[in-house]
Amino acid sequence: MKGKILVTGGTGYIGSHTVVELQNAGYEVVIIDNLSNSDVNVLDGIEKISGKRPAFVEADCTDLDALRNLFEANKGIVGIINFAASKAVGESVAKPLLYYRNNLDTLINLLDLMPQYNVKGIVFSSSCTVYGEPDENPVTENAPIKKATSPYGNTKQISEEIITDFVTSGAPIKSILLRYFNPVGAHPTAEIGELPNGVPQNLIPYLTQTAMGIRKELSVFGDDYNTPDGSCIRDFINVVDLAKAHVIAMERMLEDKSEDKIEIFNLGTGIGLSVLGLINAFESATGVKVPHKIVGRRAGDIEKVWANPDKANNVLGWKAETSIEDTMRSAWNWQNRLRERGLM
Ligand code: NAD
Ligand code: WQD
Repeated sequence: MKGKILVTGGTGYIGSHTVVELQNAGYEVVIIDNLSNSDVNVLDGIEKISGKRPAFVEADCTDLDALRNLFEANKGIVGIINFAASKAVGESVAKPLLYYRNNLDTLINLLDLMPQYNVKGIVFSSSCTVYGEPDENPVTENAPIKKATSPYGNTKQISEEIITDFVTSGAPIKSILLRYFNPVGAHPTAEIGELPNGVPQNLIPYLTQTAMGIRKELSVFGDDYNTPDGSCIRDFINVVDLAKAHVIAMERMLEDKSEDKIEIFNLGTGIGLSVLGLINAFESATGVKVPHKIVGRRAGDIEKVWANPDKANNVLGWKAETSIEDTMRSAWNWQNRLRERGLM
């Protein structure tokens, strides 16, 4: 057995896929999640895939005493992967304090306790949202950070700064900041996936729900952008590929493979795909049609952004491997599983 890893937000979408990969790689996992955006039954899915049920603590990371109790009860945690955060961009505009409190208090509490409990490293879930509308694509880690367009995006920028300041102060910890592009898809077993709350705001859950007939049609937000087909361009990264990068990042910190105490990596495929292109990929991969119509632009959308993942490819030795067709099939199989379970 390798070391013990604390995964905050581990019953969530990316967290649950990462717990599976950590366990498959031989790590012992303790999850903390307040179930504000996930279901405890996710633990069953994780167990079905990996054959192991992770330890689970239902608690809020903003509660310092609860976190301290967790570290006391689970001695020997060597690393943390911090997924726990609120992540709905629109909601963050309406409820900024909720976002600043939840996302920043969670991080500060974890950092505060790390030296006390000899936790060596923390992997942080950041986002390509820090690049705003990039001056050029594909985006490298050296691209300028643009002023955040939402409180949610701002929490990611501030979190990166908090971690950097703490490490720079001489704190005895290491950190890897992972900037995700657009994570999509589900585990190929369809045992775990994304559980959208209410009407989905993100493209893939809306698309799969439309294909299922739950929604009448998908609105494509704008076809008058400066892109080949006029729709926005994103870098859609498979969630299992993304999860695997966290295991590599954790290993890198624990085994002191890095010179720097803080490192940043883009996690994307390096391929920019348009919204209309993605709909085509889904239809050809699954044979299922997605009724859709073009509507006006969505306020605040970035026109085009995709990753230059060279640094992650070369330094981490990680590469996104899953084809967009396989990813679309996994998203569709997951949607079907939710229907079978009567959840959608
Ligand atoms: P998610 O909502 O599915 O998972 C987050 C989990 O954290 C949920 O299970 C939620 O219940 C839990 N949580 C939230 N606040 C908590 C708290 N205070 N204490 C304990 N648990 C708490 O989201 P996700 O898509 O898996 O995202 C994971 C991380 O990756 C987040 O930090 C998110 O901002 C970041 N990220 C996500 C995307 C994306 O498109 N999904 C892109 C870039 C970055
Ligand atoms: C993708 C594209 C939409 C829904 C968001 C956050 C970002 C990051 C990932 C966390 C856009 C278009 C969407 C629909 C559509 N999260 N779209 N019809 O906006 O790229 O990024 O999630 O860090 O911070 O902002 O993702 O899935 O919402 O949209 O046409 O019904 O799909 O306009 O071009 P986005 P998304």
